[in-house]
Amino acid sequence: MAAQESKPSNLPILPKYLNEDEELSQECKDLIATLPTESGLINNRIHQYNGFWITTSQLQGTLNCQNHFQAHDSDILVVTSPKSGTTWLKALTFAVLNRKIHYPNPSSDPTQTSHPHPLLTTNPHDLVPFLESVLYFQTTKPDLSSFPSPRLFASHLPYGLLPESVKRSKCEIVYLCRNPKDLFVSTWHFANNLRSETRGQIRIEDSFDKLCKGTIGFGPYWDHILGYYKEGLERPEEVMFLRYEELKGEPIRVLKKLAEFLGFGFSKDEEKGNVMENILKLCSFENLSNLDVNKRGKVWFGIENKTFFRHGEVGDFKNFLASDMIHRLNLITQEKLEKHGLKF
Ligand code: A3P
Repeated sequence: MAAQESKPSNLPILPKYLNEDEELSQECKDLIATLPTESGLINNRIHQYNGFWITTSQLQGTLNCQNHFQAHDSDILVVTSPKSGTTWLKALTFAVLNRKIHYPNPSSDPTQTSHPHPLLTTNPHDLVPFLESVLYFQTTKPDLSSFPSPRLFASHLPYGLLPESVKRSKCEIVYLCRNPKDLFVSTWHFANNLRSETRGQIRIEDSFDKLCKGTIGFGPYWDHILGYYKEGLERPEEVMFLRYEELKGEPIRVLKKLAEFLGFGFSKDEEKGNVMENILKLCSFENLSNLDVNKRGKVWFGIENKTFFRHGEVGDFKNFLASDMIHRLNLITQEKLEKHGLKF
């Protein structure tokens, strides 16, 4: 049997980017008229809303979910800035929560079994959809009835822009951040994969200036990190703050901590039965990036799945950044984060 890409039926079908003013709600148009606007890395227009930069389409989705999403106390929200390891965190969280239903067998060949693990046939972005840029992207009333409890959603929104119902609820938030230098290099490559032919490729220097100014999707990056870091210190039961580098360095320890935080801790039998190792293998860069679905498929909005997998390494920035760029990023990181106890 050939492995097929299975799109979960609870996802909207191929919405398109809303760049035309006439496709936006009046509320969104009125808001945009009051906001500073710049050209983004990927999209033509990016707006500064409550201190963060958001594309036109995502602003509409943000307003929709801010106004209409009702969080449940049992919900789980995975949050990142783009290129911090979202795809990985989505895969891991999905595999942890669903391991009783779908045993994580990374070596099973999806073409040979009638019930392959969903991660073997579906990109993590289609299993754990974003609130603002998928579910509420073009509607104020998505059908969420098919999401089993605990409902698992994702977001790139900074803490301050999350729907009030999320902040008021006991919903669990897992936040993953990444060294700003690696995040920058990953963002630059991703932007060049996605930019339209008319806009052409962006030079690393121009991309760098945008990152430093914060005019990238959901930027400034440092403020995004800080919002969740502070919230994690204040509400450790509800907000877990993780780093890509620690997940890479000590995957078993972090996975165990993640599962416990979610209330899905591993039993002794599971530990002995290598369930954690299997989940890590299933969700590994090597495994996911080599799957048929991730080599050829596309996620809901038409981006090729393969663009979410590049190198997946720590320290790749050394291959791309000039020493003055490294120096500048280190300075911003020191200035913005170190005084709060956060070092990279
Ligand atoms: P690089 O561009 O540095 O390789 P996001 O998922 O937030 O878009 O982040 C993408 C980054 O995470 C890319 O980094 C990508 O290669 C890396 N990545 C994707 N899947 C991964 C996985 N399973 N394990 C580790 N890193 C992964």
